[in-house]
Amino acid sequence: MSAENPHAAEPGPVVRVAAAGDIHCREERRDEIVAAFAALRGVADLVLLAGDLTTYGEPEEVAVLADACRDLGIPVYAVLGNHDWHVDRVPELTVVLRDGGIHMLEREIATCQVAGVDVGIVGAKGFVGGFPGSHLPDFGEPLLREVYAEGQRDVEALDRGLRAIALCQLRFVLLHYAPTDQTLVGEDEGIMAFLGTDRLAAPIAEHEPTLAVHGHAHAGCFEGRIGTVPVYNVSVPVLGNDFELFELRVQEQAAPIH
Ligand SMILES: [Fe+2]
Ligand SMILES: [Fe+2]
Repeated sequence: MSAENPHAAEPGPVVRVAAAGDIHCREERRDEIVAAFAALRGVADLVLLAGDLTTYGEPEEVAVLADACRDLGIPVYAVLGNHDWHVDRVPELTVVLRDGGIHMLEREIATCQVAGVDVGIVGAKGFVGGFPGSHLPDFGEPLLREVYAEGQRDVEALDRGLRAIALCQLRFVLLHYAPTDQTLVGEDEGIMAFLGTDRLAAPIAEHEPTLAVHGHAHAGCFEGRIGTVPVYNVSVPVLGNDFELFELRVQEQAAPIH
């Protein structure tokens, strides 16, 4: 997709960010996944992976991704998704992913310099919790209140992380679960509480990163906004493509070209 770029004539380096969520690797798709990543050479400066890296969370599945990234020569940052937790082998997954050179972020920040530009990334899986009309309450059984508390830990991590990278020229929020329902249009209304929560939106609205990306909502829509911040659902089924490429020109206020 493309759009008019009102800043095209202005000076400043451009950073090319490839983003995708819900790749759902498995051995049967090895060749196409390796080819999709190889096609990023010379095209992208940075890769953001918005969770659901695997189909069931098996180490053999994530090895496909690790092999695709190992010699890529482009920094890759990722968060896990709910599928990656399914068989509860996350510590093993993390070892395999790190062996592939993938930087895993779980309520963490990372900084790097890309094309001479200081980049900061805050990554968290996020969690369920709902949106206006579907919010889970912080009330009642301890188990339900723990679900709410787990979401609150993500909110606090985003706030803390965005403060830490405040001086970076480009600042990205990387999530699996959605921080706004604007990118959920097309999803079944009955499952909204399980697609994310707008409680994640508060630190994004306050700290105004360059952009936020998420996945998880396979039937949602591509573009939304939290205050001034563009939010993109980069779930592969939404993109209809292996990756979305954001070309970000760094100036006083970095502006998405598309
Ligand atoms: Fe998914
Ligand atoms: Fe998911």
